[in-house]
Amino acid sequence: MRPRGRDSVRGMSEGIWDGGLADDLAAEVLFDEATLRARIAELGREIQAAYTDKPLLVVGILKGSFLFLADLVRAINLPLEVDFMSVSSYRGTKSTGVVKILKDLDVDVDGKHILIVEDIVDTGLTLRYLLENLETRRPASIEVCALLDKSAVRKENVEVRFSGFECPNAFVVGYGLDYDGRYRNVPYIGVLKPEVYAD
Ligand code: IMP
Repeated sequence: MRPRGRDSVRGMSEGIWDGGLADDLAAEVLFDEATLRARIAELGREIQAAYTDKPLLVVGILKGSFLFLADLVRAINLPLEVDFMSVSSYRGTKSTGVVKILKDLDVDVDGKHILIVEDIVDTGLTLRYLLENLETRRPASIEVCALLDKSAVRKENVEVRFSGFECPNAFVVGYGLDYDGRYRNVPYIGVLKPEVYAD
């Protein structure tokens, strides 16, 4: 079988992702646009079924979740609210475990069902911190939806109820995920070439 290369994403983004910024990614695309779209539609259906008649507050964790959240909420036909938190936990390509809140929620979570939307759960340290922090604010419930799950490197036992894809243990970028602030605008998810980051 032919490996899924950039050809498979060509057309959907008018072929602009051949060369340029995309040259820093390995040739094989991990999750292309069509694959992402199809899985997010399924996640939306699952979430819609789970939260019918419940006050749902979708909390996007910035910045990595911005594209995923935008697509996910459009796949959920419920009167949900959206808010964002911004946290920092990374330096380079390794988790530090030290989480800092850069932007807190604007809305009150009392009595609401929180759905945390993450781009990727790696060690789980960021999520553990977020869950503990949000639990003190007495929401009706808290669940997690993560597009990518790197469960092989998990250090914290955190439950991801809605999981998009199992992710290999490589540093991935695109579709919101960055390295050093870049690659978030790549419309698919790929593996960053190791020579791009000097760790
Ligand atoms: P954790 O605390 O180790 O679970 O890391 C969570 C955060 O680290 C995610 O929300 C991402 O922002 C970032 N992260 C973890 N793995 C990757 C990756 O492979 N590429 C880009 N960002 C990552």
